[in-house]
Amino acid sequence: MKFVCFLLIICCAKGLRANISNKVFPPSFKFGASTAAYQIEGGWDADGKGPSVWDTFVHKGGVTVDNSTGDVACDSYHKWEEDVQILKELGAQIYRFSISWPRILPDGTTKNINQKGVEYYLNLIKALKANNIEPIITLYHWDLPQSLEENGGWLNPVTADYFGEYTRLCFQLFGSYIKYWITLNEPFIQCLHGYTVGLLAPGVVNLGEGIYKCAHVQLLAHAQAYHIYDDEFRDSQNGKVGVNIPYSWMGPKDPNNSLDVEATERYFQFQCGLFANPVLIGNWPQLVIDRVGNLSAQEGLATSRLPELTKEEIEFINGTSDYIALNSYSASLVSYANDSTPLIPSYLTDYNVETSMNDSWPTSTAEWLVSYPEGLRLALNQINDRYHPSEIIITENGWSDDGQLNDIGRQEYMEGYLNSILEAITEDGVNVTGYSTWSLLDNFEWAYGYTQSYGIIKVDFKDPNRTRTWKDSATWYKNVIENRFITK
Ligand code: BGC
Repeated sequence: MKFVCFLLIICCAKGLRANISNKVFPPSFKFGASTAAYQIEGGWDADGKGPSVWDTFVHKGGVTVDNSTGDVACDSYHKWEEDVQILKELGAQIYRFSISWPRILPDGTTKNINQKGVEYYLNLIKALKANNIEPIITLYHWDLPQSLEENGGWLNPVTADYFGEYTRLCFQLFGSYIKYWITLNEPFIQCLHGYTVGLLAPGVVNLGEGIYKCAHVQLLAHAQAYHIYDDEFRDSQNGKVGVNIPYSWMGPKDPNNSLDVEATERYFQFQCGLFANPVLIGNWPQLVIDRVGNLSAQEGLATSRLPELTKEEIEFINGTSDYIALNSYSASLVSYANDSTPLIPSYLTDYNVETSMNDSWPTSTAEWLVSYPEGLRLALNQINDRYHPSEIIITENGWSDDGQLNDIGRQEYMEGYLNSILEAITEDGVNVTGYSTWSLLDNFEWAYGYTQSYGIIKVDFKDPNRTRTWKDSATWYKNVIENRFITK
């Protein structure tokens, strides 16, 4: 009997150890948190900063649900030292933030460099390094200098050249400290909401062509930054430049219905493929070329609304990413929809599918954001199988609620998604090397203003001091980082 008990104990202990070790993140895996300049910095016109499209957009009024602006936001322009302390206390190993282009180049061009802006970022970067926190810099998170917008913004190819010059300056100024760069945050969302449906700055409505023209210019901008780094800085700085892809898993509503399966593939290529394909495989996805070409012909247009990429452009853009920075939040089910007649020339009808959510998925305060953790594992596998990146970092993943300190919903969400990442690493062999949650702080949530909270740290926006308070999820996350496995 004693012997049987002894055996049982050994077996249980072994099982437990196997279970725990399955749940342990590899030693090189890095945890951290993300933010973006316009959403946290404030100081919108401080110390020589130029206006961005977001300053202009929100100052018009009526564009955010609470009519708020990012003029002060979390005031991180003045409170950055406190933010670094929070990151340190959290045990963060990475911090993903963005540089405000007009803070260092007020009119977008290198003719006039704002030293105060440069100092701000240098101080922040040095403080992070001093605390062993690896900065991951997004070069552009939607706050285009207003003067470039007046010149056509992301619809004018010259913006790609200005972006190239701006990024060269950033590599010169900050590159000796930086190992990971992200060029443009979520080009798909910027082009869709900024230049197609007009919900985000600069608010351009151009349903038929906006997204394609913007994508063309942003792809050239991304590739310029990559080549500049490759040609002029890689040897001495030895960092990586990555493309940022927003992709949340989508699957056919009825997996046995071939039309739903076809619709899912179409939706994937029109969202993810539109940017990932040219950068990681070369050229627009064939499915997108064919579909927009055919619809444009039926609309009586002489050429496709999707600009053709020249052979030189395809070569210039292809292969310009050292890793993938993946932003992934939610999930959706896709079903087939009949094309409407008469045809409306619009990106939305170009892909023309219906989407829904599964009723069992917990919902957040953002109507598009549900929790389906298994979806992230599936998404990672899809991205891995299609594009074969050598490395993926999750640069955004987070949950929106009403700002309560007892944010169990966020904790459960993070727990599920971290588990899913771990499974993708340990069971599927996907090389995910980091997780940076959205967001470190409650912040200005674009068109939703301050009505949705994504932070693991609460910010009191009524307090001129913008006091920061730890939520329960932050304490839980600190524990995960410390122990490197997920605890219930
Ligand atoms: C953006 C963030 C935004 C978050 C939540 C992402 O698409 O990069 O700026 O706050 O989603 O909506």
